[in-house]
Amino acid sequence: MFETGKYERIGFELYRQYSDYQKKFVSLCHEHQIYFLLGLINSHTFKDGRPIETALELGVSHGVTSLYILKEGCKKHCFNLFGLDLSEGEHIAQAVFGEATPEELSRYHLFKKHTSYDIEKIASGQKFDMVFIDAAHSHPHPIIDLIHVIPYLHEESIVLLHDVIDYMKPNAWGESFIYSAWKEEKYRTVFLDKDQNPGRSTTLGCIKIPSDRKELIGNIEPVLRTPFRASPWKFDEVYLGVNKKDLIRLKAFMEKHYDKEFAESTFNQLHANFEDYMKNHLLYIHETRFFDYLVMQFADHSNRIDDICNELDESRKALSQVEQLKRDLDESREKLSKFEQLNLEDMKKRIDEMHRWKTRIQKSLPYRIARKLRAIFK
Ligand SMILES: C[S@@+](CC[C@H](N)C(=O)[O-])C[C@H]1O[C@@H](n2cnc3c(N)ncnc32)[C@H](O)[C@@H]1O
Repeated sequence: MFETGKYERIGFELYRQYSDYQKKFVSLCHEHQIYFLLGLINSHTFKDGRPIETALELGVSHGVTSLYILKEGCKKHCFNLFGLDLSEGEHIAQAVFGEATPEELSRYHLFKKHTSYDIEKIASGQKFDMVFIDAAHSHPHPIIDLIHVIPYLHEESIVLLHDVIDYMKPNAWGESFIYSAWKEEKYRTVFLDKDQNPGRSTTLGCIKIPSDRKELIGNIEPVLRTPFRASPWKFDEVYLGVNKKDLIRLKAFMEKHYDKEFAESTFNQLHANFEDYMKNHLLYIHETRFFDYLVMQFADHSNRIDDICNELDESRKALSQVEQLKRDLDESREKLSKFEQLNLEDMKKRIDEMHRWKTRIQKSLPYRIARKLRAIFK
C-alpha cells in the first residue's frame, strides 16, 4: 500500500520542527507512529495530485495525535480535522486547545459525547481523505466504526487502525481482527532505526477499502462472525457497550448506505453474537478480568525485575568502588610499612654513627686530657 518506511522517514524530519507535545500531554501514539502520520499528511497525494485535506479521528482523548495532524495539515490550505469522542471530559482535545493557533482551531471540529453512530451529523455529506479509528478497541466496536465511516470515504481514502496488535490489554482486539482479516492492500507502519532504516512493525495499521462491494463484504464478514468478548474497560454492567438498540440503529444506517441484504445479514450476525454473549457474559467478564489481572501482575513483576536489576547495577558499582578503596588502602599500608622500615633503619644507622663518634671522642686526646684534669681537681 505504501513504500515501507517512506512516510516514517519524511515524518522523522518534520517531527523535529514540533515541540514534543507527548511529554506535555498524555499521548497514546508512539513517536514513530507520529512520524508516519506527519509524513503521510505532508506528502501523500491522490491520483489527481490532491493532498489529504479532510481527516476524521475517532477517539481523541487528550488530542496529542490530533494536534500533530492538525498542525501538519494546516500547512496546506483547505485542511480540516474532525474529531469525535464518547467522553465529554475536560481532558478531551486538551492539547489542541492548549497549543493550536486561532487559525488552526478554526479548522478543528470536535464532537464530544459523540460516537460513530453520529457520523451522518458529523460528516454532513462530505467524504474524508483519511480516517483514524482509535476509539473503543474491544470487538465489535471497531468494525461498527468502520461500517459507519465507509459511506463517507472515497476510492482512495486511507483508513488507519490503532493497536492492530495489542496484547497488553486482554480482549481489546477489535482492530486486530479487522487488520488480520483484511485481504486487500494494507500496511503496518514501522519503527526507524538510528540510521532511519525500517525496523520492526508498530501497532499502527492502514487498510485500503475495496471499491467492489462484494470484496468489501468478503473482508468484513469474518470479523462480523467473530464472537463478542467482555471489554477490559467496562462500558456497561455487561462489559460490552453494545445493546440491541444500537444494533437496530446500525441496521437502519446500513439500509440507507449499503445494500439491504448486507444490512440484514450484518444485523442477524451481530444480533446472534449479542445473544450468545449475553448467555455467557458472566464467564466472559471473569475471563477478561482474569487476563487483565495476569497482564497487570506481569507488568508489576517486570517493573519489579527492572527495579531489582537497577539496584543490582548500583550494588555492583558500589562493590567495585569498595574494592578499589580496599586496593588503595592496601597500597597505602604497603607504603607506610616501607616508610616505617626506612625510618627504623635510618635511626639505627644514626645510633651506630653516634656510638662510633662517642668511641672516637672517648679515644681522642682532648677528651682524655679533660678526664685526667677532672680527676685531679675533684
Ligand atoms: C485510545 S484513546 C484515543 C487516543 C488518541 N487517538 C491519541 O492518539 O492520542 C480512546 C478514546 O476513545 C474514546 N472512546 C471510547 N469508546 C468510544 C466510542 N464508542 N466512540 C468514540 N469514542 C470512544 C475514549 O473516551 C478515549 O478518549
